[in-house]
Amino acid sequence: MIENKRILITGGAGFIGTSLAERLKGNNRLVLYDNFHRDALSGTGLADHPNIEVVRGDVLDRDQLFAAVKGVDMVVHMASIAGVDTVMKQPVKTMRVSLLGTVNALDACLEAGNIERFIDFSTSEIFGRYAYNVTEGDVAQLGAVGEARWTYAVSKLATEHLALNYYKEFGLPALSIRPFNIYGPSQVGEGAIHHFIVKALKGEPLTVHNDGSQIRSWCYISDIIDGICTTLEQEEAVGNAFNIGNPRATITIYNLARLIVRLAGSSSPVVSIPWDFPDVELRIPNIAKARKLLSFEPQVELEDGLELTLDWYARKLGLGA
Ligand SMILES: NC(=O)c1ccc[n+]([C@@H]2O[C@H](COP(=O)([O-])OP(=O)(O)OC[C@H]3O[C@@H](n4cnc5c(N)ncnc54)[C@H](O)[C@@H]3O)[C@@H](O)[C@H]2O)c1
Repeated sequence: MIENKRILITGGAGFIGTSLAERLKGNNRLVLYDNFHRDALSGTGLADHPNIEVVRGDVLDRDQLFAAVKGVDMVVHMASIAGVDTVMKQPVKTMRVSLLGTVNALDACLEAGNIERFIDFSTSEIFGRYAYNVTEGDVAQLGAVGEARWTYAVSKLATEHLALNYYKEFGLPALSIRPFNIYGPSQVGEGAIHHFIVKALKGEPLTVHNDGSQIRSWCYISDIIDGICTTLEQEEAVGNAFNIGNPRATITIYNLARLIVRLAGSSSPVVSIPWDFPDVELRIPNIAKARKLLSFEPQVELEDGLELTLDWYARKLGLGA
């Protein structure tokens, strides 16, 4: 486990950021840099931990970000507009935060000097609508220009190119991670599992888009945190992009909704609503590269992860699971 490092996490108040902070806080000093567009931090107690400093700041504020990066050893850059619904409402902001925010973060690292690691957060959305057993070397798919949904993928793809070329051109030890549908406790934003669990616990209808036949692989939060921590330690990670996900935990959206209803002991119905926007029909990662270079192996089976997540939401919402 990485230790005695000063690590800045942009987007550190988000779902993955707070979970990473939870894992790293015992042996490292952390700066959580976030504009609190979302807030998974409140109520965790992390802000009061002696090894954690919280900076309320925007990655678009170049001066503030440069000041925050000064003196750190590593940067995990997660600040982003995430979630299909928010992206579709704010496509320009999505692109600005990804593109300009990542340039700012990379430049801040160059100026600070001696940065030992920069992790760029990309997305599995770069593989487009049909992504079966996709490897890192497969060609990224760009959706139709003008479709708001794809602004997220196209700008994340650009940040991958930026990060990997800051390594090639300037020697910054950077890498990219492509998360495939992460879920678990502390997910405060959007996401099918977040929606389904909250509805199931409240006894309200769970809605799926169209017939719910879309296929996803679900990766439990502690598994991606394992993967991130390994990339902070292992030199072989530098200069690479990694798919991080759990191909074993693959299910249609409709069956996922039904499974959550069953595990919650709920009587909520699963209802279909028409959804006339571009969607990803199929997405399953190939994780052979992460297995080989990072010894990454997802540990948490879907039902087990859902049980843990249900327990967390039940406690948070004060509802029975
Ligand atoms: N959760 C997933 O399944 C998933 C999948 C693919 C990619 N990702 C990527 O992983 C990273 C973390 O995702 P997450 O699920 O924790 O999302 P999240 O929305 O919970 O966290 C993102 C954080 O970034 C912060 N932020 C947004 N704009 C900012 C800005 N301009 N300046 C500073 N902070 C800003 C938000 O307040 C939030 O706390 C993101 O880059 C996301 O795109 C996540």
